[in-house]
Amino acid sequence: MRVVSGIQPTGNLHLGNYLGAIRNWVRMQDDLGDGEQCLFFLADLHAISMPHDPAELHKGTLEMAAALVACGIDPSRSVLFNQAQVPQHAELQWLLGGTARMGWLNRMTQWKDKAGKNREGQSVALFTYPVLQAADVLLYQATHVPVGEDQKQHLELARDIAQKFNNDFASEDAPVFTLPDPIVPPQAARIMSLRDGMAKMSKSDPSEMSRVNLADDADTVMKKVKKAKTDPEPLPSEEGGLAGRPEALNLVTIYAALTDGSVANVLRDFGGEGFGKFKPALGELLVETLRPISERFTSLLEDREALDAILARGAAQAREIAVPTLTKTYEALGLVRG
Ligand code: TYM
Repeated sequence: MRVVSGIQPTGNLHLGNYLGAIRNWVRMQDDLGDGEQCLFFLADLHAISMPHDPAELHKGTLEMAAALVACGIDPSRSVLFNQAQVPQHAELQWLLGGTARMGWLNRMTQWKDKAGKNREGQSVALFTYPVLQAADVLLYQATHVPVGEDQKQHLELARDIAQKFNNDFASEDAPVFTLPDPIVPPQAARIMSLRDGMAKMSKSDPSEMSRVNLADDADTVMKKVKKAKTDPEPLPSEEGGLAGRPEALNLVTIYAALTDGSVANVLRDFGGEGFGKFKPALGELLVETLRPISERFTSLLEDREALDAILARGAAQAREIAVPTLTKTYEALGLVRG
């Protein structure tokens, strides 16, 4: 088993990232057996696909590293690094560029959403983004990739690229790439905005009130939860009663994910109650969950040199793991003699 996943270091780590992905990263790390390995990285190379401020990106990378450690990623057990220090990611992306098809990339919903009507004006990197993402996991022969629902399509593309490459350039008994499996949590696969139950919680939403950041203080968390959009009806006692009520469903889902329970369990406790009672209970639960994370985050940020050292060490380990696959790829393509 080799677990690999990444996060863009732009903006704050929010509750959607945490419940959809990072909590699973930590659990997989903690359950690791002998000979198994986890690699987690900051996708700084992906971040340049959109307009960005270089100083902000650099700061964001260190802060996201601190946030991951604060959430429980242990750099002495997992390999924690940023892509930019491991040039094999960009190198493999180019090598996979001969295999990925334009039609596959054109179908990616993230590309369609982000480009909107202005495809001609987008960076080439935004279009080829999923090929880099495929390189990120194929480089390490990842078997499991813990992600939220929104990244599943990119992982399916990574599998398609791996499969076509193996078919075209490798023999059946000696494939170059392992096909990675996306691991999406059953609860919390898609946490929605607190302002709009139909839009996912996202770093790029201009409204701070739409998301809970892991570094928010208790008052801010309570305020965001209390102001979350809802409807005037009380909570139903059965799951079916949440149909057509996306904001109510989202808050109940968050509560369920935080308590590792089910939506049905939450409704058993809160069915018939109004949001005047449910929101403070959810707010308290969030504050209690986030308190230790935000305390650790604040103290880790005080020692930037220690964070630099963690990333440098992780990158050295990642480079070492990456080299054999990259060499095999060059050989398979006839670029160097095998
Ligand atoms: P990113 O940075 O947008 O998000 C990081 C992780 O958080 C999950 N996530 C969510 N889960 C549930 N509800 C939400 N509202 C929510 N918002 C975000 C994402 O699914 C993701 O797992 N392209 C990736 C980064 C990446 C990557 C990779 C991931 C680059 N290379 C290789 C896996 C493997 C991204 O932009 O995620």
